[in-house]
Amino acid sequence: MTQQKSSSGLAGVVAGTTAICTVGAGGENLHYRGYAIQDLVAGDCFEEVAYLLIYGELPTVPQLVAYEQRLISLRVLPEALKNVLELMPGDTHPMDVLRTACSFLGNLEPEGKQRDQYQIADRLLATFPGILLYWYHFHQNGNRIDTQSDEDHVAGHFLRLLHGEAPKPEWERAVNISLILYAEHEFNASTFAARVTAGTLSDFYSAITSAIGTLRGPLHGGANEAAMALIEQFDSPEMAEAGLRRMLANKALVMGFGHRVYKVSDPRSDIIKQWAKTLSQDVGDHVLYPVSERIEAVMQKEKKLFPNLDFYSASCYHFCGIPTELFTPLFVMSRITGWAAHVIEQRENNKLIRPTADYTGPAPRAYVPIGERPVA
Ligand code: COA
Repeated sequence: MTQQKSSSGLAGVVAGTTAICTVGAGGENLHYRGYAIQDLVAGDCFEEVAYLLIYGELPTVPQLVAYEQRLISLRVLPEALKNVLELMPGDTHPMDVLRTACSFLGNLEPEGKQRDQYQIADRLLATFPGILLYWYHFHQNGNRIDTQSDEDHVAGHFLRLLHGEAPKPEWERAVNISLILYAEHEFNASTFAARVTAGTLSDFYSAITSAIGTLRGPLHGGANEAAMALIEQFDSPEMAEAGLRRMLANKALVMGFGHRVYKVSDPRSDIIKQWAKTLSQDVGDHVLYPVSERIEAVMQKEKKLFPNLDFYSASCYHFCGIPTELFTPLFVMSRITGWAAHVIEQRENNKLIRPTADYTGPAPRAYVPIGERPVA
């Protein structure tokens, strides 16, 4: 029997099939259910992308209207969940807030006869902004905010709950575009975690809770927060260049650069970079954007590495007045759609996901009873 070679981090391994998304190494091929990301961005409607991913096809106008109304009607939070959000410490990482809240909602509204996977997907999509910002405002200033708002769309709803006023149209558009870009990305780590959990025939909330925990790390979704921390360190492009060169000399990882699949560029980066530039001009920024561009130039010159979606998302969110610790939770508010689509797909043709490993431990050896082992 031929022994298969193991792959470090499953790099290059085809771990299954999917009809949801393509990610091409060349950087030109990102499609959600056959639609190019550039076209979906031009459509400018995160809710239609959510519908496409979860329900399989783009909605008609009446379907989209009904879907948006349904999401609005699902925004209210159960009192028990609000109590739990109040009990969580104020210095909890917001990703841990979403992870626990998702799991707790699964206690209150379990999957079963009364609630199917589509209803849960919509409910999580509708409630994540309110969950996060109820917790945030309660612990920042003691306010128990109303998690309903007059905003029709997730981006505007999030910004309204965060800032307590009507969102600036440019900010809403930028966040809306970022939600479209973050919505889905094939077998990335968090989606794969969701599929592994779903593959055991576990429940929907468990799969999403696994995914949130996986997204949190800085090698995955946490990179947008880490990128912001990097960019903010520098007061000028010159300081950024010197700092970057020191980091590279020390073999440090530069967050927001590189990708497991893309080898030339990340097609999402150019789109969000344009928004970061526009917003930078709007707010009269003369530091963050030029610093970001210089970091990009140094990474290209020294490492041939390109920015991934997380790098320019960071300054884009910052210019919208979003606190850095809420960047990765925003990723959750979008990627819940891709995760849901993958859990549904995994269940349609389920097979337990259980690979094998190359063993590197000791050869078989004799067991010595505890009383016969040397004392020292
Ligand atoms: N900064 C500095 N060097 C980097 C780098 C980065 N962001 N990304 C990759 N490299 C280097 C690696 O150190 C490695 O160099 P070596 O061959 O001298 O050891 C080489 O490029 C190949 O990288 P590797 O770690 O094998 O790639 P990977 O496919 O395992 O990792 C990422 C992919 C995304 C985990 C990696 O690029 C990374 O850690 N990026 C920063 C975190 C990030 O932005 N994550 C969000 C991804 S969307």
